[in-house]
Amino acid sequence: MWMTNIVGLCLLALVASAEDVKLSTHATTLADKSANLAFSLYHTMAKEKDTENIIISPVVVASSLGLVALGGKASTASQVKTVLSADKLKDEHLHAGLSELLTEVSNAKTRNTTWKINNRLYGPSSVSFADEFVKNSKKHYNYDHSKINFRDKRSAVNSINEWAAKSTGGKLPEVTKDVQNPDGAMIVNAMFFKPHWEEKFHDKMVDTRGFLVTRSFTVGVPMMHRTGLYDFYEDTENKLFVLNMPLGQKQASMILIMPYHLEPLERLEKLLTRKQVDTWLSKMENRAVAISLPKISVEVSHNLQKHLAELGLTEAVDKAKADLSNISGKKDLYLSSVFHASALELDIEGNPYDTSIFGTEKLRNPKLFYVDHPFIFLVKDNKTNSILYIGRVVKPKGDKMRDEL
Ligand SMILES: *[C@@H]1O[C@H](CO)[C@@H](O)[C@H](O)[C@H]1NC(C)=O
Ligand SMILES: *[C@@H]1O[C@H](CO)[C@@H](O)[C@H](O)[C@H]1NC(C)=O
Ligand SMILES: *[C@@H]1O[C@H](CO)[C@@H](O)[C@H](O)[C@H]1NC(C)=O
Repeated sequence: MWMTNIVGLCLLALVASAEDVKLSTHATTLADKSANLAFSLYHTMAKEKDTENIIISPVVVASSLGLVALGGKASTASQVKTVLSADKLKDEHLHAGLSELLTEVSNAKTRNTTWKINNRLYGPSSVSFADEFVKNSKKHYNYDHSKINFRDKRSAVNSINEWAAKSTGGKLPEVTKDVQNPDGAMIVNAMFFKPHWEEKFHDKMVDTRGFLVTRSFTVGVPMMHRTGLYDFYEDTENKLFVLNMPLGQKQASMILIMPYHLEPLERLEKLLTRKQVDTWLSKMENRAVAISLPKISVEVSHNLQKHLAELGLTEAVDKAKADLSNISGKKDLYLSSVFHASALELDIEGNPYDTSIFGTEKLRNPKLFYVDHPFIFLVKDNKTNSILYIGRVVKPKGDKMRDEL
């Protein structure tokens, strides 16, 4: 086990060195750990009864955890490493590694993808942020800081939402409807992610189709279509399809996992482990696939506070136990909310497609991948193996369609 890890790391290092920037071993380790966090966090969220769509960025969650480690002392800080399974990492390596990872995967120039990530720590009006903390959280995690009067709930909510909307170019209009606990600190991630497909969809081939939310509820969504060569796997035993859609210049890809027919996603979620996803990916075959994908924007805001506590971050969120005194120099704060909000836009845009294969044998008998019912998705980075996003779309926005039966 230990040996295979070493060999694995060396191989990773070799692959990485072929690219322009080589990641440090700390960043590589944290990419790996945050990929595990992706699955455990997804599962704690998916089991909540009233959760519909889920969109989480595990690498961004990891960097918010890094911020907690930066502001925390003693076990409040060390719990972060436990949640990340990175107990052996020194503090400076944790911060430098997470910082390096996020900088690498969110680099718009090399990645050719739109990903706006805005992070802010809100504190109550009484707090005074320590200079050292402000400096380091900006440097490592690109966090800025703001004081807010949480007692005036309405203006606090408005100012948080306005900041999120402004910093995402209007894509994410709302992070929260309410703020609780006027004495706590609040983490807010406001993001906008729009995949730039390695091969774009036809701009003229967009029409309105039904998306089945449940057997008795269908919404109308714009559907985009294209046929091309993709890595595809049909798991006949588990009755599901897996499709890999490369982004940019294949620096990352979006993996879609969809049951054959409409059904609640619980069954697939039981199968959803990192190992299983790797197994599916290893069985893929590059072949013609006719894809129909909703051209939609999904906006979701999750408060991760409770879920992170479930994964072991119990102290930072507990007013009686939290020691976040590196934030302010005093033991006067705890983490009352962790808002993790994203707008995900699926659109036609991408690189021009290869027209030379049109009409050839290669595109004969495509497999149909018709996304008209709930699915799970991952955005996986091809260089670091980290997971940029994991989530599910179960209920897109759209007008209810008349039942056809
Ligand atoms: C946090 O506080 C401790 C003790 O005061 C100090 O040694 C450490 O450097 C601080 N950490 C940061 C990241 O400022
Ligand atoms: C990605 O590349 C395409 C074509 O080279 C370009 O038009 C587009 O603006 C790029 N997008 C981003 C986000 O860099
Ligand atoms: C990862 O990148 C390599 C090299 O560019 C490419 O051959 C491979 O197809 C990519 N993998 C995915 C899943 O896009």
